[in-house]
Order: sequence, then C-alpha cells, then structure tokens
Amino acid sequence: MAFSEQILEEIQSKSDIAEVIGSYIPLKRAGRNFKANCPFHKEKTPSFMVSPSKQIFHCFGCGAGGNIFHFVMKFEGIEFPDAVRALAEKAGVELPRFTRSEFEQSAYAVQIYKINEFAASYYHSTLLKTEAGKRAAEYLEKRGVSEETITQAKLGFAADAWDGFINFAKSKGFETALLERSGLVISREEGGHYDRFRNKIIFPIFDIKNRVVAFGARVLDDSLPKYINSPETEVYVKSRHLYGLNFSLQAVKERDFCVIVEGYLDFLIPYQNGIKNIAASLGTSLTESQARLIKRYTRNAVILYDGDSAGEAASLRGLDLFVQEGVNVKVAVLPKGYDPDSFVRSEGTAAFNSLIDSAADLFEYKLGILTSRYDARNAAAKSRVCAEMLPTIARVNNAVLKFEYIKRLAERLQVREEDLLTELKKVKPDYTYEPSADAVAATDVCPGAKAEKILIGLMLDDAELIAEVQKHLKAEDFADEKTRKVICEIFKSYAAGKALSAAGLINCLEGDNLCSIVSEAASLTEIITDRQKNLIDCVKNIKEQNNKNKLTELRNLINVAQVMGDGKKVEQLLAELSGLLRSSKEFARR
Ligand code: CTP
Ligand code: MN
Repeated sequence: MAFSEQILEEIQSKSDIAEVIGSYIPLKRAGRNFKANCPFHKEKTPSFMVSPSKQIFHCFGCGAGGNIFHFVMKFEGIEFPDAVRALAEKAGVELPRFTRSEFEQSAYAVQIYKINEFAASYYHSTLLKTEAGKRAAEYLEKRGVSEETITQAKLGFAADAWDGFINFAKSKGFETALLERSGLVISREEGGHYDRFRNKIIFPIFDIKNRVVAFGARVLDDSLPKYINSPETEVYVKSRHLYGLNFSLQAVKERDFCVIVEGYLDFLIPYQNGIKNIAASLGTSLTESQARLIKRYTRNAVILYDGDSAGEAASLRGLDLFVQEGVNVKVAVLPKGYDPDSFVRSEGTAAFNSLIDSAADLFEYKLGILTSRYDARNAAAKSRVCAEMLPTIARVNNAVLKFEYIKRLAERLQVREEDLLTELKKVKPDYTYEPSADAVAATDVCPGAKAEKILIGLMLDDAELIAEVQKHLKAEDFADEKTRKVICEIFKSYAAGKALSAAGLINCLEGDNLCSIVSEAASLTEIITDRQKNLIDCVKNIKEQNNKNKLTELRNLINVAQVMGDGKKVEQLLAELSGLLRSSKEFARR
C-alpha cells in the first residue's frame, strides 16, 4: 500500500463519513446512524446504512461496504490512491505526492540522485572494507549471496550508529536539508538529524536507467520490522518500480517473458543462479504502473509468489491487474513453505525452470483455487465460482480469448455458454458483478458465517471481548475463509496491543471482499444490547457447526475404513467420534 496507515487514519479522523457520503446521496437519520437507498444497486426501501461512530458504511442488500475511501472509489469509479488524494484534500491533510512532470523538472531530483549514488557507494564500502561490515558480509554469505552479486547489486551495510552516514555526507559538502529530502536522514524534534538506516543490510533500488532511486534495508536477525525502506521522494514513487528490472531488461526482452517475484532475495538468488528474466515487486501488491512498466518490454508475465495463502491472494490480485493491462499472465505455484529464494537454493535452477514452465494460465489457476474452495457440483457453489471468475474474464480485452475462457468455464461447470455470456454482460465497467438476488442468497454456503461476523462486530465494539472469544475459539475454528482472515488480523492487532476500530481495520485488509465483511460485521451489532449473551450464542453456533462438519467427515472416513476392512482404523475413528459427541454435548449444556 502506497499510503501509510497513519496517513489514512489521519484523513479518516478529519473527515465525517456522514458528511462525505451525504454530499453524494441524500441520507436520512436513523438513531445514531443514517440510512439511504443504496447507490450501488437498485432498491425501493433503504438497506444502506452509514455509521458515523464506526466510520463505515454497509448495504445489507448488495453487500457493498467499507470506509470513506471505498465509498468514494466505488461511487466515482476511481482507484484507491485517487480516492485518498481527493479525501485528503477535502480534509486538509498533506500527502507526500510528486507528479511525474513535477519531478522531472525539479532540480532537486538531480541532486537526490547524486546523494543516493553517494550513499550507495558509502554503504557498499562499509560492507566490504570496514570491520563493522564483516558481520553483514557473513550474513550475506550465509544467505548464499555471491561476491559477484554483492558487487553488481551494490549491496551494502549501514553500521550501528546514529550519525555514520550523515557525518560523512556533511564532510563531503552535502547539505543537511537535502539529505533529509532524500530520506536518508531524519530530523529530530528537538533539533539535529540522524541516519535512517542503522545496523542493516542495504539494498539500493535502481530504476531502469540504473539510477539509485531509493533503498531497502534488512535487519541481520529475526527482529521486526524485517525490512524498512526509503520514503517516497522526488525520485521515488514506490508503485512505479520493479526491483532488479534494470539488470534483467535484456533477458526479459530476449525470452519475451518476465518472472515476477516478491522480495529482494527472491530476485537476487534466482538471478545469480541463472534465471535472468526476473524482477521483484517489493511487497505483495502489484500495481498498474508496474504492469505498464513490464509491458514496455514484454507482453508475458509469470507470477511466482510465496507458497502460502498471502501469496495466493496476491497472485489472484496480480492476475486481474495484468489481464486488465493486456499482459498474458500465468501463475506458478511454489510448494508450501518455500519462497523463490529458498526454492532455487534447495532444488536448483532446473527445478526452478520447470516450475516456471508448468505455470498455469490465468484460467486454470483461478478456477483451480475456486473449485477447491467451493464444491462446484451444486448450483449455489457454481454461481459462486462464476461470480468470481466472470469479473476476471471480463477484463480480457481480446474477444477471441474471452470467448475461449467462457467456453472452458461452461464446460467445467456444466452450465450453458449462453447463460454465462448473459451473466458476463452484467459485469459492470468497474468490474463489479452482482448475480441476481436469488443467486446471492443461494451463495451463502457457510451456515456459521453470520455468527462469525457478529463476533467480529462485537470484538470491534469492545476490545475486551477479544480475550473472551479467544477463550472459546481459535482463528482456525472460523469456517469461512474470508472471515478467518479478518479474525487473524484482529487477533494479531490485539496481540500487538493496537487499538482497533472497524474503519482502521479495513485499512489493514487488502481486498474488497474483506472490507465488506468488516462493514457488515460492524453494522450487525448496531442493534445488539446484550453483548455477553450474543457472544456465547455465536460461539455455540460456530462450535455446533464445526462439530457437525467434523461428524460428517468422521462418518465418511469410518465408512471408507469399513469398506477397506481396516478394523484398527475403524476402532480409532469410532473413539474419535464418541469423544467429539461427548464434548459437543458438554458445551451445549453451558
Ligand atoms: N517487505 C517490506 N517490509 C516488510 C516486510 C516485507 O518492504 N516489513 C517487502 C520486502 O521487499 C521483502 C518482500 O516484501 O523483500 C517480501 O517479504 P517477505 O516474504 O516477508 O521477506 P523475504 O523477501 O522472504 O525476506 P527474507 O528472505 O530476507 O527473510
Ligand atoms: Mn525469503
């Protein structure tokens, strides 16, 4: 995310959501809240509500919801950064912002490039030539980074001091004001300045013209945060760069595709091992600018993110983005627990290349995920799979390809092509898609989902209830995958001692679906008075549902074991079954 959480929160705290939304549509007061006819779907009686105290909106009709940023995005059909800019301006919050032309004309830019170049050399020689650098060199060796790579990528080390760089830079005649502007030094409130990067491995970030535009810096141990980065400056807008593309440009053109990975080492180690057509997005969210940058050199990309659920979510997002930009995109899947760096080191270059060769096209990849998520044999699940596939297919510009995908989807789901084409037309220009009302109702396949959402709402209303919920349930107990992600974020923030609000939580969650879960959750608790009772009811409901699922699964397993004549297994499963029956009865009595 290009904007810091603090900035987003500042904008929210200085804006009044009722005023913002009220400037677009007429709101009617309803107790502490406001209601309106939803602007995002047709309706005659209002199911759209705005909560000033929670700083969120939610429509119970179509499920749209979020904070002010999402409302403006959706209503005006603009991208997130533009919504943030518009609202920041309205609220009088100043953003770090540089337009391309401003920056190219700026004399400062030239000087910042110079400082960056100077700093990269300074950190590089600290790594290679000083006593302090030895520890960093050892670290890099341990990570398998070769000397050649260190030289080529100009890796460096920032010593463990508050003023190493600033003193040296001043002695060479650089002005403090400029150093601060480059992001390399930070000013103290009480006066004076100090180095931003201390006791860290330094990764200079180059643009495609080989100029140093910014720095990433990694700790040498397991402390957090693992990485810190330069702020945005006159020469650095994070979303516009891909790490390593300056080195891989030629190979990307020659091989006519680019492998996209996430991190610094996910670029460096494969590159060092012969995979030359590669670049890193530095963090999981690919941006439009990055897609356009790639498009200058090739029309083909293979996304290769970590083999975990964050990697999967990021791949799905990246996929839509590339499709929309007209890049042919495939997704390669790493075994669980690997990232490109560790995979190439343990399995070798040949295995890496065959992984890339076997990358699934967008259709196979996404459909594979969806069909494993929902049982695509029943009608509700089919319409759910369609609801997620169609917006992606709608992004495909090439009409032939688009039809090809529709044909394949029809075949896979055993539905009629004509029906899919009709549905495809309902995907709106902003790629939102609402299946007809019955389809929406039919798609709520997870029976405990409502209880799970109410719990989220209760915990957001009152952080003390988080510990209460944790007494009964773990994050894994939440059956709905999206809800579970939200829960994980709540538990994480709670463990870190962070105060949580619905509107703030939304800023931490990527993806539209998750933000409407939060807004729905926050709205659901509006009418609840007896929180304690509701909490226990929801916990019971979730446990019951989970038990039911587990019982069905166990009974199936027992059948299988019986058919296979595996008496021992049957016995063991029966014991498990009676244990489960007992514990569910005990909880129900409470
Ligand atoms: N990142 C970041 N800030 C963080 C964490 C991650 O900017 N606090 C970015 C970095 O560019 C990082 C990438 O996200 O390289 C991927 O993060 P992660 O997978 O957590 O780290 P790795 O790249 O695997 O780091 P390492 O192998 O050094 O542990
Ligand atoms: Mn890694």
